[in-house]
Amino acid sequence: MAIKNICCLGAGYVGGPTCSVIAWKCPDVKVTVVDLSVERIAQWNSEKLPIYEPLLDDVVKECRGKNLFFTNDVKSAILDADLIFISVNTPTKTFGNGKGRAADLKYVEGAARMIADIAQSDKIVVEKSTVPVRAAESIQNILYANNKPGVTYHILSNPEFLAEGTAINDLLHADRVLIGGEDSGAIEKLCKIYEHWIPRKNILTTNTWSSELSKLAANAMLAQRVSSINSLSAVCEATGADVSEVARAVGLDSRIGSKFLQASIGFGGSCFQKDILDLVYICECLNLPEVAAYWQQVIDMNEYQKSRFTAKVVRALFNTVSGKNIALLGFAFKKNTGDTRESPAIYVAKTLLDEGATLNIYDPKVEESQIFKDLTHPSICESPEQVRKTVKVCGDAYSATKGTHAIVVCTEWDEFMVLDYKKIYDGMMKPAFIFDGRKILDHEKLLEYGFHVQTIGKQL
Ligand code: NAD
Ligand code: UGA
Repeated sequence: MAIKNICCLGAGYVGGPTCSVIAWKCPDVKVTVVDLSVERIAQWNSEKLPIYEPLLDDVVKECRGKNLFFTNDVKSAILDADLIFISVNTPTKTFGNGKGRAADLKYVEGAARMIADIAQSDKIVVEKSTVPVRAAESIQNILYANNKPGVTYHILSNPEFLAEGTAINDLLHADRVLIGGEDSGAIEKLCKIYEHWIPRKNILTTNTWSSELSKLAANAMLAQRVSSINSLSAVCEATGADVSEVARAVGLDSRIGSKFLQASIGFGGSCFQKDILDLVYICECLNLPEVAAYWQQVIDMNEYQKSRFTAKVVRALFNTVSGKNIALLGFAFKKNTGDTRESPAIYVAKTLLDEGATLNIYDPKVEESQIFKDLTHPSICESPEQVRKTVKVCGDAYSATKGTHAIVVCTEWDEFMVLDYKKIYDGMMKPAFIFDGRKILDHEKLLEYGFHVQTIGKQL
């Protein structure tokens, strides 16, 4: 029997957009997205969705209330479902064995226990969260240890490869869909869902462990490219080479390719660091220290890039930012998202605040409350009151930059490329500095206006 009823546990950045697209493309399938958070579900049912993602509003509007539902009623959703996606968060552990590296599987385990508790009929359980290789085994153990007579489970791995800011497009035009599993019948049923819009040749089936490991491998290799180009950006700054020219020359080799070679202040986001740390931990557990060290270097290079950039800002401002007012343009970890998880902007802000600066922060999509939540987190600051006194969140780039000593561009939002920098220069303290952490601005023009300009991977 074909899948008619899908439930997704976890209404986050993956569960929400993925299920919205499934509902849109499979009008004959009922899709119910559930979450433990009452607030998040209320937002999914409101006019202002909990996440900003281009095109998402349109897709949700098209399907919500027809065959797409957001609810906290976990019980009914699980009871009715033929197939359940586990799309919950898998953050880095903050305590105990593997602290700071291993993935914390408590939410995945919680989801599996909920299914085992509630289910009365056969279910296909699909691991969509990013998990350590062999996690499906734990899910299987939990489900069967709590099994009710006559209920059969098939576990599949179906990792998600969407990137934030392009999620809907990535889902609609996925390079590939990956399904790992041992039961060909269950695999076929999930394939049939994706075949509503993905050509069969782009649906790859593998064993469960290859699928789980491929997700970690893909993220590690993408992040490795960013760290590679960022490492070369330091060489460029020291030699007069231009990292954009190097990236272009290197990327035109079809064996290398041009994507993910944009030098930056370092990669952020909820997954690259978490997944590489998990890979490193897995390698150590497997007694593969050389492999662990190899991937750890990708993280170390990213830390180096973030601190190198921030040190450059302080150095240029005559080695002191104490009492200086600095504008941060962009706080999200990349453009076209309001997500700030592991955003390099947090590191930049923290370092400048530690050095005594006051900050004006503007981001087109990050809420003021989120900026304060990030900067007052105990791992970032000791005194939340101090942060509230020294950070101002502004409603646009012009008010954020007015009267400041320097501008630091942390996120590559398109609107930052078309600002009136002459007007901005006129309103700033002199000498006026601009640090382009994303290489998106017209540096020649900025120099003409009188700015002192610094960027990544290029001497100016
Ligand atoms: P998220 O934090 O945005 O969402 C996870 C949601 O799961 C939260 O709302 C949480 O309340 C909910 N949840 C936790 N336990 C639950 C339970 N038992 N039942 C119902 N809901 C529960 O996380 P995310 O960014 O969507 O990531 C989810 C997974 O997908 C992670 O493993 C991540 O690595 C992976 N992933 C994320 C992205 C991305 O772009 N964010 C891309 C690919 C893969
Ligand atoms: C990344 C992967 O691209 C997705 O395939 C994956 O599904 C996802 O992680 C995940 O597992 O969560 P995401 O983190 O949303 O997606 O965004 P990316 O576009 O990969 O950017 C990550 C970080 O790298 C950003 O801070 C970005 O600015 C930075 N980056 C990216 C660069 O600095 N240079 C580049 O050339 C590319």
